[in-house]
Amino acid sequence: MKILMVCLGNICRSPLAHGILKQKAANSRLNWIVESAGTGDWHVGQAPDRRAIAIAKKYGVDISGQRARHFDPKFFNEYDLIFVMDRQNYADVCAQAINEGDLNKVKLFLGDDVVPDPYFDDNLFDPVFQMIDQRCTEVITEGTNTLV
Ligand code: 4NP
Repeated sequence: MKILMVCLGNICRSPLAHGILKQKAANSRLNWIVESAGTGDWHVGQAPDRRAIAIAKKYGVDISGQRARHFDPKFFNEYDLIFVMDRQNYADVCAQAINEGDLNKVKLFLGDDVVPDPYFDDNLFDPVFQMIDQRCTEVITEGTNTLV
């Protein structure tokens, strides 16, 4: 199973989702590949935002080695599942799909809800970490039941 986490800049939300799910999958002995990308290219090659690195570190997840990537349409073929953090990400990724198979891979990470962008609000990093962490635990449970 190859899973791609996507947000806007690939320096706050999707690196957290990438690092957390990767760690949980490894702990559960799931042979998953988890990576991330952004719909925007401003931060390509950069490490995650220092606030994202700090909040992850606080809860025992090291995301400091990640480097931002720009979403590429070829990723539709490379990943089984593409989790997006908000509705704009959803629209931007879906706009690059070329068939129904591509579209079916794209899911809002929180189902009906969205992960708010913490970039302009330092106080959002902790709650954003918590909501991503909780959802990652659910994804692992779903994975051990059905997804693998
Ligand atoms: P992210 O947050 O999409 O969770 O990585 C953002 C990072 C950078 C910007 C916006 C959101 N930016 O405008 O540069």
